[in-house]
Amino acid sequence: MKFFIDTANLDEIKEAYDLGVLDGVTTNPSLMAKEGISGDANVRAHYKAICDIVDDKVSAEVISTDFEGMIKEGKELAKIDDKIVVKIPMIKDGVKAIKYFNSEGIRTNCTLVFSAGQAILAAKAGATYLSPFIGRLDDISYDGLELIEQIVHIYHTYGFGTEVLAASVRHSMHLIKCAEIGADVVTCPLKVITGLLKHPLTDSGLATFLADHAKAAGK
Ligand code: E4P
Repeated sequence: MKFFIDTANLDEIKEAYDLGVLDGVTTNPSLMAKEGISGDANVRAHYKAICDIVDDKVSAEVISTDFEGMIKEGKELAKIDDKIVVKIPMIKDGVKAIKYFNSEGIRTNCTLVFSAGQAILAAKAGATYLSPFIGRLDDISYDGLELIEQIVHIYHTYGFGTEVLAASVRHSMHLIKCAEIGADVVTCPLKVITGLLKHPLTDSGLATFLADHAKAAGK
């Protein structure tokens, strides 16, 4: 299972990368805005700065919603660095754009996916990654994890090459459940990754070991 961090914050990306478990980064226009990044040149420079931290797979989202616009924008994003994956929304022109980029050998991440039908379309078009949003479904009383399970089952049944990238992951249990279900990738905030570290028995056990060691050493 791959871990992507879902942020445009360079310090958080560096911290996750330094932990040695990071496989990529996802961003979206809201996350870029949160970092105060705006204007084409600044946005591109920020994506380049992210690419310089990690080894591969940095999702950069298009703003255009028409086919021509997405193609133009996606090509410009892909030129920033070989690590860029062009993130395309699950809309009609988005499906066409995914098909186009697939034929050009440019990797895509189909975003804003909320149903199995959308997942089938994206896979048929040749998306590299598919991002179903777990937390946003949970927010409106649908079961986000159930959707991940359904899509993993469909993709395995038909041998689709598209990787299931579970997104909108809000807490560590979402991540663990995705691992049980067999999602290929999880993208989440840093706190979800570091949350996996935590266990009170680890903390108390370590405190005891260190205290016993100090006692034996006569300290
Ligand atoms: C996916 O790539 C999105 O950036 C992200 O996971 C959305 O998460 P949110 O619903 O917590 O905003």
